[in-house]
Amino acid sequence: MVIAVDGPAGAGKSTVCRLVAERLGFIYLDTGAMYRAVAWALRETGAPFEEDAHLVMGLKGLPLHFAIRENALSITYKGREIAGDLREPDITRLASEVSQRPPVRDYLTAWQRKLATAGNIVAEGRDMTTVVFPDADVKVFITADLATRTRRRQREYLQKGMEVDFSQLLKEIRSRDEADAGRGIAPLRPAEDAFFLDTSCLEIDQVVLRILSLTEGLP
Ligand code: DC
Repeated sequence: MVIAVDGPAGAGKSTVCRLVAERLGFIYLDTGAMYRAVAWALRETGAPFEEDAHLVMGLKGLPLHFAIRENALSITYKGREIAGDLREPDITRLASEVSQRPPVRDYLTAWQRKLATAGNIVAEGRDMTTVVFPDADVKVFITADLATRTRRRQREYLQKGMEVDFSQLLKEIRSRDEADAGRGIAPLRPAEDAFFLDTSCLEIDQVVLRILSLTEGLP
């Protein structure tokens, strides 16, 4: 079974999907982490990737590997777990940039479909319901208003000891939303048959329960 979840930054996808996967004993696949890992690895190799031809070559030789271990994504670079912080602001920006590039999307779409053969899965990202798993058993689009999403992201940074300015963060999230939704390839948009969930006024548990209820009655 595939539960596919899309939505913008800070909508609560990661927290909710991890819990849904735990409750069901499914694999949890954070595809944003895969885009971040590609950004990290391309930066690490230092290979040029401004042109698509270079990028295709760079991706071919990239010593990056994805696998499922204990129902979660494991990312290794040269055989070791990636050492850097994939959520650091520079990687966030670079991930947004490389996620616009067709060779990167093709490369990761293939990986994501391969990983999904490992078992039942909850996959979250921007194009899970529309491009990667259009035949998913359950499709959900999670969102929340911009201020709520910014507050959530700000809290996440604070928990890591990083203080970030609210209005600056809001601007960054808005411009990332615009880039994700406005790109020509695999733009962020709700699939026609996705269940639309605005989490602005919902607690995490409520969102988890709603998604679980969508799986009831499925074989
Ligand atoms: O969900 P996130 O913030 O970790 O995602 C990092 C970046 O990757 C973000 O700019 C959107 C992009 N992304 C994407 O284009 N498609 C996905 N399926 C997942 C993430």
